[in-house]
Amino acid sequence: MADLEIRNLHVRIDETEILKGLNLKINKGEVHAIMGPNGTGKSTLAYTLMGHPGYEVTDGEILFKGQDLLELEPNERSVLGMFLAFQYPVAIPGVTLANFLRSALNARRKAVNPEDKGIPVPEFRKFLKAKMDLLKMDHSFAGRYLNDGFSGGEKKRAEILQMATLQPEIAILDETDSGLDIDALRIVSEGVNTLRGPEMGVLVITHYQRILNYIKPDYVHIMLAGQIVESGGADLALHLEEHGYDLLREKYTA
Ligand SMILES: Nc1ncnc2c1ncn2[C@@H]1O[C@H](COP(=O)(O)OP(=O)(O)OP(=O)(O)O)[C@@H](O)[C@H]1O
Ligand SMILES: [Mg+2]
Repeated sequence: MADLEIRNLHVRIDETEILKGLNLKINKGEVHAIMGPNGTGKSTLAYTLMGHPGYEVTDGEILFKGQDLLELEPNERSVLGMFLAFQYPVAIPGVTLANFLRSALNARRKAVNPEDKGIPVPEFRKFLKAKMDLLKMDHSFAGRYLNDGFSGGEKKRAEILQMATLQPEIAILDETDSGLDIDALRIVSEGVNTLRGPEMGVLVITHYQRILNYIKPDYVHIMLAGQIVESGGADLALHLEEHGYDLLREKYTA
């Protein structure tokens, strides 16, 4: 069984069915990309995986490390190693980025080992500085309130810093490339590449082939109207970039 296995997933928001029988398997060590037009349900998939209460699963199942993910609360999913970098990160004025990350890290450590007393502050500072260096972030960032007044690109970097801190087993990046300038795209991608490895699986949700030049995917999936309709290798993204969605739409909505 795959580390993350999504079978026949149906998800509804209010009365509308958004995901209509989605299947996907991701193993640690693999990088998957999902591409698809606006409104096909990519973020819906990401939110459903994290357990957002507004998304109602009406059919299908999700197994994460052999456990029924849908039975778990969002924090339990996080502790188990699931991570989502949001398409639209929220601001939390009054909570510094450093404090937020330390709390998140400590919660995860405590769940792994109930005896854990939390990472000592000096050790955490060193740890965080190293991660920020990796992402070429100014250290003063750590003292700012979470996402409060951050530019679009800064928010995305803060998300990747959070990922670097939590070291998840499955990381979902929802349009982490949008809003990044060319340098930031490279730096964030390098950050992800440094973190990727046999212990982490990554799902990159993106509209553009460009980020996949940096974060080389093992698999590319195309999503249309709530389903994955085609899967292939990295060349599928190139093909899509060239031809657009029209041919696929004709093929799958006929
Ligand atoms: N809270 C909500 N209430 C009502 N409809 C919603 C809500 N959230 C999402 N939807 C609808 O669900 C559909 C899928 O949205 P979703 O955000 O998953 O698309 P997406 O594939 O991520 O699109 P994009 O590429 O624009 O980010 C859209 O039609 C959207 O309007
Ligand atoms: Mg989206």
